[in-house]
This record gives sequence, C-alpha cells and structure tokens, in this order.
Amino acid sequence: MNIRPRRLRGNEILRKMVRETRVDKSSLIYPVFVKEGTGIKEEIPTMPGQYRYSIDTLLKGLEETLDAGVSKVMFFGIPDKKDEVGSQAYAKDGIVQRAVAKAKEAFGDDLYLITDVCMCEYTSHGHCGVLCGHEVENDKTLELLAKTALSHVQAGADMVAPSDMMDGRVLAIRNLLDENGYKEAPIMSYAVKYASAFYGPFRDAAGSAPSFGDRKSYQMDYHNRREGLKEALLDVEEGADIIMVKPALSYLDIIREVKNELHVPVAAYSVSGEYAMVKAGAKLGYIEEDKIICEMAAGAYRAGTDIYLTYFAKEIAKYIEEGR
Ligand code: PBG
Ligand code: ZN
Repeated sequence: MNIRPRRLRGNEILRKMVRETRVDKSSLIYPVFVKEGTGIKEEIPTMPGQYRYSIDTLLKGLEETLDAGVSKVMFFGIPDKKDEVGSQAYAKDGIVQRAVAKAKEAFGDDLYLITDVCMCEYTSHGHCGVLCGHEVENDKTLELLAKTALSHVQAGADMVAPSDMMDGRVLAIRNLLDENGYKEAPIMSYAVKYASAFYGPFRDAAGSAPSFGDRKSYQMDYHNRREGLKEALLDVEEGADIIMVKPALSYLDIIREVKNELHVPVAAYSVSGEYAMVKAGAKLGYIEEDKIICEMAAGAYRAGTDIYLTYFAKEIAKYIEEGR
C-alpha cells in the first residue's frame, strides 16, 4: 500500500494543517429580537438561551455579542401594535428603526447592523404581505417592503435583508434606496427560502405565525432544487449583493448549488428549529451540544456558505477562539 489516507489523520496538529474548511468569526451573523417596552430581557421558551430585548437592555446584549467576537447582527422587530397593512414595519419610530438608531449611536461602525425586512411580525394576520381576500397581494406588498427597507437604512442600518419572498422585491428595494441616495447600501436577499417547519420556534419568538393558512404560496416547496437557482439568479439580476439559503441543515445541496452557479457571496441561515432541536437534544442528554454545533457549522461552510447566520454565533466564536 503506498496510498494511506490515514497518514494525514495521525494527530490533531496534522489534521488541522490539512483541513479543507476553516470557520472564521468574521463571517458569523447573530440574529437578535427587539421588542417594545423597557427593562425587558425575556427568554424565548422554545429557544432557551435566546431573548427578546427591549431597546435599553438590547445595548447590553449587543455588548456581550461584540465581546464574544461577533460584530454582525441581524435585527428582528416585535411591535406592540399590528394592523392589516403592517404599518409599524415602516414607521419612522417603529421598533426596529429606533433600535437601529440606538445601537448605531452606542456602537457606531464597531457593529455591523443588518435588518430583516418583512411584514409578518407587523400584520394582524401574520402573513408576509398585504392581503387581497385570503391571498397575499404581491405587487402592493412591494411598495411597503421598499418603504420598510428605506426606513431601516435611514435609521442607520448597514444592510437590509428582505425575507418575504415576494416576486420583484429586491428590485423594488434597490430602486427606492437608490432614489434616496443609498446606492451603497447592500441587499442580502433571502432568495432561496423554503416553506419550512424549521421556522416554528421563530414564529413563537416573534409572534408572527399566520392566523390562517400557511406561507406555501410565497415560500418555496422544499422538494425543489432547480427552482432555488432560479430564485437566486433572479435576485442577483434585480441587484441582490448576497444570496441567502434558508434553512441550512436540510438544504446543504442548495447551498452548494448556489455557490457553484452564482458568483456572489452565499449566506446560510441555520434557523430557529435547528437551534431548538440541538438545545432540546442536549437538555435530554441525547447529544453533545458543543460538538454538534461545530459539526453543523462546518457542514454549512463545507457546502459552500461564505456567511453563516446562527443563534449559536457566540458559541461558535468561542470554540474558534479555543482552537477547535
Ligand atoms: C420573516 C422571517 C422568518 C424567519 C426569518 N425571517 C419567519 C418566517 O418566514 O416565517 C425565520 C428565522 C428562524 O426560524 O430562525 N419572514
Ligand atoms: Zn415574513
């Protein structure tokens, strides 16, 4: 035998030298929930270790995130008032707009601030756009999404991330941002977003579950791969700077496909259900949490992701620091 693959597996120092995938802290994004009120830091029951913050306590949370070596966050807003057209999503004094302004005031460019752009947390019916009867009206929604994105950038957001899955929303957002002088504000599109049961805990956290029906008329059917590429290509043509695949764990093939076929940075979102499964399994003693976290992360990067959105961002940063 002259070829022995085991020769390069003999010890940790050697294994690390020949590693094909390296995870870097600078590519991690930590999702954060912000809600109205003061003095609030409430744990999300289905996502132990994750919290809903009011703006005052948020700053402390962000400081901890920065201290952990994670400098990119994505904000999700939980408003007090919801209505048919989700007015709080694009209100100048909406929860995200105020949180962004405060965070920027406190941390400036030390913190890279991305905002999720969608309607579902803000509409009384919980759908990701305005309704016409029981259907989400695509073209009317575009205007509101663009207004939302603009209001986030005006408040100080560095980047916007539309997650609604309406057709044409990247172009609508791009146009409105450009018209208002924000030509340099990048868009990270949730381009390849599947209708997934993995979002369950998030919807508990944000109170954004649809009050009737489901999201299958706008989010993608998870049996489809080719269609994912179509969505990604369309969004790049419309001006998306980064393409996201979501969820991550059950969609590694899609991450690889987008990576191979498109020439933009790829992001993968390890969503709430992935987090909840790990937490629940670990709590029962069925799995080893830290090892599973590292393996899931490496899998996403190996599949081709450049950027990783995860509720485990702080833990991963720590494991990297420890030289794992
Ligand atoms: C809003 C949005 C959702 C998530 C990100 N943005 C929920 C949904 O589409 O129902 C899911 C994130 C997660 O599960 O962690 N459209
Ligand atoms: Zn939504």
